[in-house]
Amino acid sequence: EKGGYEHFMLKEIFEQPKSVHDTMRGRLLVDEGVIKMAGIWDHVERFKNANRIIIIACGTSWHAGLIGEYLIEEYARIPVEVEYASEFRYRNPIITDKDVVIAISQSGETADTMAALKLAKEKGAFIYGICNVVDSSIARITDAGSYTHAGPEIGVASTKAFTAQLTILTLIAFKLGKHNGTLGNAEFMSLIAELDAIPKRIEEVLSSTHEQIQQISKDFVETTNFLYLGRGYNYPAALEGALKLKEISYIHAEGYPAAEMKHGPIALIDENMPIVIIAPKKGHYDKIVSNVQEIKARKGKIIAVVNKGDRQVSEMADYVIEIPETSECFSPIVASVPLQLLAYYIAVYRGANVDQPRNLAKSVTVE
Ligand code: M6R
Repeated sequence: EKGGYEHFMLKEIFEQPKSVHDTMRGRLLVDEGVIKMAGIWDHVERFKNANRIIIIACGTSWHAGLIGEYLIEEYARIPVEVEYASEFRYRNPIITDKDVVIAISQSGETADTMAALKLAKEKGAFIYGICNVVDSSIARITDAGSYTHAGPEIGVASTKAFTAQLTILTLIAFKLGKHNGTLGNAEFMSLIAELDAIPKRIEEVLSSTHEQIQQISKDFVETTNFLYLGRGYNYPAALEGALKLKEISYIHAEGYPAAEMKHGPIALIDENMPIVIIAPKKGHYDKIVSNVQEIKARKGKIIAVVNKGDRQVSEMADYVIEIPETSECFSPIVASVPLQLLAYYIAVYRGANVDQPRNLAKSVTVE
C-alpha cells in the first residue's frame, strides 16, 4: 500500500504532481478561460461584499491560510485575516454577518477549528470549508466548500494536503479576482495557464532534487538547530519547512520572514547554524541577496532554494537547490517540495519514525 516507497510520507511527497492535478481537475478549464467552483460561484456576492475574510486553521493548514491571505488580497483585493483556530475561539472575536470565514483542514476533524467555526456560524458569518476528507465534520457544518482532492494522507506530517490546499486557495483567489474585476483578463489567462503546468513543475523538482537532497541531508544528521527564511509568499513556506523538520526529525527549527532576522534571530547565527533560505527570482530577490550577505558574514551555513541559473545567492550558498522559475504566487508550491524531502531524509537518517512521529496524531480531536 506504500506503492514501493519506504514510508507513506515519501509516497505522498511523490504523489504531488497527481494530487495537485486532481485538485484542479474539472475546475480549471484553461481552454475556455474558466475556473469552475460551484461552492464559490453560488455565493460569489457574499465573498465580493464581505467586510473581510477570516481564515482559521491549525498547523500546516494555517500555513496554507497565510499564503491564501497573500493570494486573495493580491488578486481579489478583499481584506483577509488568518488566525489560529485555538486563538480565535477564545478571544471573543469580532465577527458579523458580513464576514466570510474559511476553515482549512485536511482531516476536517480538528477540534479547535471545528469549535471556531461553530462560533463564527452563531455570529452569522458565512462559513466555507476547505477539507480533504469527504463528509468530515467540518465539511458537514460549513455552508459551502471545496474539497482538496489530494486522496488519503496517511503520514502524520502533511505534504500533499498542503500543496492541494494552496491549489484551492489559488483557484479561489483567481476566480474572485476575475469576478471582482481586480484581476484583468490577460493576466488571468496567463496565470491559469501557468497554474495548469504546476504539476509538471513539481514533477521536475522531484526528479532534479531528489538524489541531491539525500546527499545534503547526510550533512545535517547531527544538527540541533535550523533557521528557515523567506519573504512574501515564501515566508509561510519557510514556516512550513521548519514545521516539517521539527515534527519528524525532532530538530529544533524556526521559520522567520527574512527581514525579521535582523530584529533578533541574527544573534543565533554562527558557523554551526544552518539556514534554509527560499530565494526565487520573483519576489524581493535583491532584499534576499542582502539577507544572505548578512548570514554569510557571520559564517552561517546556507542552503539556498533558488531558480535555475541563479548566480548571486548561489555564489554565497554552501548548498544550492534549484527549482523552476514561476510567478511569485506559485513559488511556495514548488519550493515546498524540496523542503519536504529535506525534512524527510534528515529524519530518516536520524532513524526517526517519519510516518508516526512521537507525541503527534494525524488529527487533533482534543482541544
Ligand atoms: O487536519 P488539519 O489540517 O485540521 O490538521 C491541522 C494540524 O493538526 C496539522 O496540519 C499538523 O500541524 C500536521 N502534523 C502538520 O504536518
